[in-house]
Amino acid sequence: MKKAALFSLALAVCVLGMQAQTPAVKKAKFHLGDNTEWAQPGFNDASWQTLDITQTWSDQGINNQENGWGWYRAHVTIPKSLIDQAETKEVIIFDVPKADDAVEVFLNGTLIGKSGRFPADKGGYSSAWSRPLTFSVKANSSAIKWDADNVLAFRVYSGNEPGGLFDNPIVVRVPARTDGLTFAFKEGKDKKGDLVGVTLANTYPVVQKGQAVMEISNPETGEVLKTIKKSVTLKEKKELTLSLPYDRTEISSVKVTYTDAATGKSVVRSYIPKYLLTPPAPAAPRFNTAAVYGVRPGSPVIFKFGVSGERPMKITAADLPKGLTLNPDNGSLSGSVDHPATLRFTVKAENAHGTATQEFTLRVGNQIALTPPMGWNSWNCWGLSVSQEKVMSSAQAIVDKGLADYGYQYINVDDAWESAERNPDGTIGTNDKFPNMKALGDWLHNNGLKFGIYSSPGDRTCGGYLGSIDHEKQDAETYNAWGVDYLKYDWCGYSREYNKERYHSTASYVRPYLLMQKFLRDQPRDIFYSLCQYGMGNVWEWGEFVDANSWRTTGDITDTWRSMYDIGFIRQAKLQPYAKPGRWNDPDMLIVGKVGWSNNLRDSRLTPDEQYTHISLWTLLAANMLIGCDVSQIDDFTINLLCNNEVNAVNQDVLGIQAKPEVIDGDVQIWVRPLADGSHAVGIFNVGPDNLKVDFRHYFKALGITSLKSARDLWRQQDLSTSDTNYFIPTHGVKYLKVKY
Ligand code: GLA
Repeated sequence: MKKAALFSLALAVCVLGMQAQTPAVKKAKFHLGDNTEWAQPGFNDASWQTLDITQTWSDQGINNQENGWGWYRAHVTIPKSLIDQAETKEVIIFDVPKADDAVEVFLNGTLIGKSGRFPADKGGYSSAWSRPLTFSVKANSSAIKWDADNVLAFRVYSGNEPGGLFDNPIVVRVPARTDGLTFAFKEGKDKKGDLVGVTLANTYPVVQKGQAVMEISNPETGEVLKTIKKSVTLKEKKELTLSLPYDRTEISSVKVTYTDAATGKSVVRSYIPKYLLTPPAPAAPRFNTAAVYGVRPGSPVIFKFGVSGERPMKITAADLPKGLTLNPDNGSLSGSVDHPATLRFTVKAENAHGTATQEFTLRVGNQIALTPPMGWNSWNCWGLSVSQEKVMSSAQAIVDKGLADYGYQYINVDDAWESAERNPDGTIGTNDKFPNMKALGDWLHNNGLKFGIYSSPGDRTCGGYLGSIDHEKQDAETYNAWGVDYLKYDWCGYSREYNKERYHSTASYVRPYLLMQKFLRDQPRDIFYSLCQYGMGNVWEWGEFVDANSWRTTGDITDTWRSMYDIGFIRQAKLQPYAKPGRWNDPDMLIVGKVGWSNNLRDSRLTPDEQYTHISLWTLLAANMLIGCDVSQIDDFTINLLCNNEVNAVNQDVLGIQAKPEVIDGDVQIWVRPLADGSHAVGIFNVGPDNLKVDFRHYFKALGITSLKSARDLWRQQDLSTSDTNYFIPTHGVKYLKVKY
């Protein structure tokens, strides 16, 4: 090819690929406070300071904790040529920075978008800080000034630090016609069975005309199982749903292709519908919880046998040791034993379908939490909007929906229960959302559950509530009076104390935790002690020294693959030596089901395979299994994930050895956990972007396996062939095995 031809080809590619958009705007004028006049284009902002809008105001040294309000004014020229070149001339798009926490966006004085809610709005303040913000404006709107200076004003409210605009710059662009189509996938049912559907919605003021094809295929073989085609004509705000039946017990892959009639351009979206691997529990009784429990001499025993199966059911023990009572209706063991002892007895569960027994050991001694705690915590769903009512509704659902039959027992109230001020005698109280903590504790105990609470060794918690500093003894006594069984003690405000120290050492980290533990141990009940300080000072090396039962090893988790991968795989890889019965590494709470850290809940953004990976890995890690979703809204997919007795048995294995990665081979990671019965739990993970076939045998040498005696698929609860070990593992998915060799 001649040079000139090459050049014009390059130019053509360049023009075609050219994004019709303005240069990115990264700076804006900024002022603290709130005045709606500041939205007006004519307002003179020359005296305002200039800030970078891709970092919060907090990151730029502005402390605005007191009143929360700040305004930005960005100046953007919008060339008319933008719309002249556009494929669709009806609309322009404003991509603007994210806003921590709520924002109104004005274009030359006209409100064009809003995210989150301000304190005075209906429903009260609500943060939407992580939401990407894109607003569309009709091209014929009088708010736009073509080829001239436009003022984009942002009215921002930050509920707590940090605050302000952040992440991406401002870009104004014209869309492709199909950009206005959104695709929402959803599982459902009709009379014939399970369905997966996609709803195409037109969000632009242009008619979408084209064709949609939806197909379901087997991702392992590529075979297309079902197809549906539909011609589409959608006006603005109209939508259309296509759906196909699918087999919910197998992985399948859905692909939707929409082709625009005018341009011939296609948009493709893919989706893996939720699929259920755990087989249904039998109607006959089955014990699902560990056969050992630790309690200190004299402390009340609060333990519930987790037994699935049809109700009514009777749970009894003929040889129950003195001092203990077993409630035959809900399987709760209570009472106390005042001396160290190892007490063995047989528990029997009976219903109309049969009988099951468990040989149980109660270890009365110093060590509690012989297996990792299982239960629920309010943070990942409700964040600071938690209330007593919300806690009770999830607790009730844990009982009603059978999760308590699988060992989920701790019901932990996270931050935001605390009163604004201490009582005159220095004790802590609750805020209006928690009318009666003692009643909550009693109610939980009566339902066979345990009660957890949250505080900080500092003056303030992470949510800005009262911490325990200088009141540790009083707080421990209050917890005892309320019947608390678990304390999550979160560093946060303690950083101010830490920063006062001139020289830092491990002792600086240890001090506040040691102090509280002394007072907890003085109480006449067992309180699980959960350290939360994000792994600082290698907490795993000294957590046992402060008599902690678990310690968070990382910062906060969120419901993305990136977060879960970083926390679960990378950050736990070297922590195996530090876990043992009573002392657990805590990679943070579960992110399955409906989460949202606020009143705005959403389905976990993890794909079904990422969720299988999450639960498999957390059970391998002997991690605290604290459900983070609103259990009152839990779906059957999430119940199926959380209530696989064979999977959970790995988490609760009494040997208490955490898994470690024995093989890391490109995108394949094999984590192995030795179990008490001499077998091993093995997670073969595919952490890469493509589906893989992995031959387990290929890694036998690396794993020290000379001959595979048995292999069981833990999710499906099926024995597998020991000769055919070639497994299909979808992207971000897992093959979870229990093997003997
Ligand atoms: C920190 C913790 C979270 C949660 C919040 C509460 O971020 O790591 O788990 O407890 O504080 O404010």
